[in-house]
Amino acid sequence: MKDGKFLTMAFESSCDETAVAVLADGRQVLSNVISSQIDIFKNYGGVVPEIAARHHLENINEVMDRALREAGVTLKEIDLIGVTHGPGLVGALLIGIATAKAVAYAADIPLIGVHHIMGHISANFIQFPRLQPPFTALVTSGGHTNIADMQSYTCCKVIGSTRDDAVGEAYDKVARVLGLGYPGGPKIDKIAREGDPQAIHFKRIMLEKDSYDFSFSGLKTAVLNYINSAKQSGREINRADVAAGFQQAVIDVIVEKSMAAARKMDYGKLALAGGVAANSKLRAELEKACRKENIELYVPEPVLCTDNAAMIGCAAYYRYMAGERDGLDIDAYASLPL
Ligand code: KG4
Ligand code: ZN
Repeated sequence: MKDGKFLTMAFESSCDETAVAVLADGRQVLSNVISSQIDIFKNYGGVVPEIAARHHLENINEVMDRALREAGVTLKEIDLIGVTHGPGLVGALLIGIATAKAVAYAADIPLIGVHHIMGHISANFIQFPRLQPPFTALVTSGGHTNIADMQSYTCCKVIGSTRDDAVGEAYDKVARVLGLGYPGGPKIDKIAREGDPQAIHFKRIMLEKDSYDFSFSGLKTAVLNYINSAKQSGREINRADVAAGFQQAVIDVIVEKSMAAARKMDYGKLALAGGVAANSKLRAELEKACRKENIELYVPEPVLCTDNAAMIGCAAYYRYMAGERDGLDIDAYASLPL
């Protein structure tokens, strides 16, 4: 406790960001330190799990010290430790978990494991101090694509998921074949602004009527086929048009399904989460659709959309306040149901 405020320190290491944050009373960010490995993985065209884990190990103590220093607090003042325990890369997760456990044990602080997706959704509580559940949540990241019913601070029911690629994964793969580099999402976001989204039509995969599930692998293959057949026939491809056409196909599906879910749940609130929520066109189109239907749209700022530990701290705080407790035996899970 400091100045009467409950302090949470949280760790996130599920993929390629080593992150530690300190929060006051669950929603106020005192520090949010993120050490990204993006520059390393640019050379590989994607994340290499073993290398990611090694870098987490090298960085995590320094990132934690910085988070405490920037927050202006000491370990003695921390009341709760939160840590992502899945889903994610097991080797990467284990570094955050081992550090969190060691600190919790040494300083005798309670420990709470957090589901990564619950963390992403909770970023909205930080950005919008008055937001309360229930609301409809759309999670679009490099590893996940879900539509969820956020029923309370600690209970979330998934009603739709991707059956193959996550949306961010599709962005990254299409960017790679277009030679745009890694991570592909921001690159496609940018180049698509110069392209015509109607120039090339890619099929919108809607799946069964009333299904909130997604499928992006067919779209990814369609883009690859388009590029390959253009190459074979010696046709020049317009990268901006391909990026814009691909992005529009993704966005049309996401907007239609998330608006249908928001309508069905009827909370009047739709909150975005995950790295792809940083996409400018997706934000603009959802804003337009929500305005038309009188639904409030919540979109965290980009730094809270991509992986960070502040969102994990917020989710840990609410689990703790709901009376949930974890022991020092918590483990890392590559896949973990919500
Ligand atoms: O949430 P996140 O940081 O990590 C996971 O939990 O997966 O999301 C990373 C994903 C990557 O696939 C990246 O390409 C995508 O988010 N992304 C974007 C944008 N910024 C990041 N996708 C589309 N447009 C963006 N502006
Ligand atoms: Zn994430």
